[in-house]
Amino acid sequence: MYQSNVTVIGAGYVGMPTALSLAYFGHKVTLVDTNQERVDALRQGQSPVFEPYLPEMMANLNEKVQYTTSMASAVSEAEFIFFAVGTPSLPDGHADLTSLNDAVHQVLTELSSCSLKSRFLVVKSTVPVGTADQIKEVIAAKGLTHVKVASNPEFLRQGSAFADTLFPERIVVGGEPEVQAAMHELYRPLIEQSFAVPQGLVRPPSLSTSTYLSTSNRSAELAKYAANAFLAMKISFINEIANVCDGVGADVDEVAQVIGADSRIGSSFLRAGLGYGGSCFPKDTRALTAISAESQYEFRLLNSVIEVNRQQALRVVEKLERCLEGVKGKRVAVLGLAFKPHTDDVRESPGIALAHELMIRGATVTVHDPQALPNAETILHRDILRAPDLGACLEGQEGVLVTTDWPEYLQMDFKRVKQVMSGSWIIDGRNCLSEDAVVSAGLDYMGVGKGAQKPPAQVAVAALGQRMHL
Ligand code: UGA
Repeated sequence: MYQSNVTVIGAGYVGMPTALSLAYFGHKVTLVDTNQERVDALRQGQSPVFEPYLPEMMANLNEKVQYTTSMASAVSEAEFIFFAVGTPSLPDGHADLTSLNDAVHQVLTELSSCSLKSRFLVVKSTVPVGTADQIKEVIAAKGLTHVKVASNPEFLRQGSAFADTLFPERIVVGGEPEVQAAMHELYRPLIEQSFAVPQGLVRPPSLSTSTYLSTSNRSAELAKYAANAFLAMKISFINEIANVCDGVGADVDEVAQVIGADSRIGSSFLRAGLGYGGSCFPKDTRALTAISAESQYEFRLLNSVIEVNRQQALRVVEKLERCLEGVKGKRVAVLGLAFKPHTDDVRESPGIALAHELMIRGATVTVHDPQALPNAETILHRDILRAPDLGACLEGQEGVLVTTDWPEYLQMDFKRVKQVMSGSWIIDGRNCLSEDAVVSAGLDYMGVGKGAQKPPAQVAVAALGQRMHL
């Protein structure tokens, strides 16, 4: 079995599954992070982020992964050096490459005094087009001809990071032939899906092999942004259809089912709601518009995707305003601070934004999340009440807004909810609850695009009559 020496820089949502999966394939893996506390915790087997299956992988592989803050010891023997550091948004929308540049600089400084064996710098972080070329220029200026650069965008989703890493539909590598050959060999078990599936995970029955796509560095870099922008576009599109549904009395889930059954459209990412959040879509859509603008192209469609997303969350607040006849002075619960279920990540989370918006509008807001409260603490306003558990959060509320589709919320006993609430409105910002279960418990339900704002029958019929010349 091919065994290599791999270093992964950045012990976050991408670096952790990357490092552990490569260790699972038998490579000698070192994970570097600048945060000493995080490295200390990792050495004791504590996972730095909440991600399903991460504790199990850590327990099984901790002997095989070295955790360190020392770049020198991590890099000297490594053949592959993965960069999995964050590239957050700058105020102008561009990606902030400070962490990546620091890491590249340190690695190249170390490599200047190491052996001349082949080294591959693998950029997993989402980076602007041309980043690999810039790194190559620095390498050339330092005369490090044995160091090559691969652009290897990551497509994993938080919440299913291990399944996505081990069972990818496609692997994209940008780089020259020598890079392609080395990366193809490294990823052979993934491409051929030839490894024994770790206990607790299931290989999708439809996946016999993963498609390996070899591109230029620039195409790989742009493809990552294009993929996220396209998915964001699907979400904004279905959210706009949902808004039309609200006006005309149609049901967006039924519409999504119909259009999604067309394989040219596909059924995924057509769940309407209060819009996308997280550390990727908001930042990457902004970065792609900035990249386009820099190349003298105005990406109008993407600008609209971003604007629709911004408005969508506010539309849900407006619904609550209408249902409660104003939220000022009302007690309201916000269920869900993570940007999606099965993660503790609260970056650009609609739940947090809506909790603040409701507070600004004068509501007394209580929030709950099964995992994300500790991360939310740093950004939540002190006047927002934190509930210790779901029951306490619902107690005495006049309205409840569901902002994350955690299983806990889907499985609520609505009869009990009805008993503890003082009001009756449940606003389902993720269309994740059973309307029947809510309504049959004696509560009022309002989803997104669920035909809840049907036009008054007379107006609708009169308008239809005019159009049909009746
Ligand atoms: C996203 C992409 O899906 C990954 O392929 C990519 O690797 C990752 O970004 C990244 O760039 O690192 P992620 O942000 O983890 O992954 O989460 P998604 O499952 O894509 O959800 C993003 C947001 O869209 C969430 O707020 C989710 O609730 C929302 N969403 C998703 C919808 O509102 N409707 C949908 O139909 C799907």
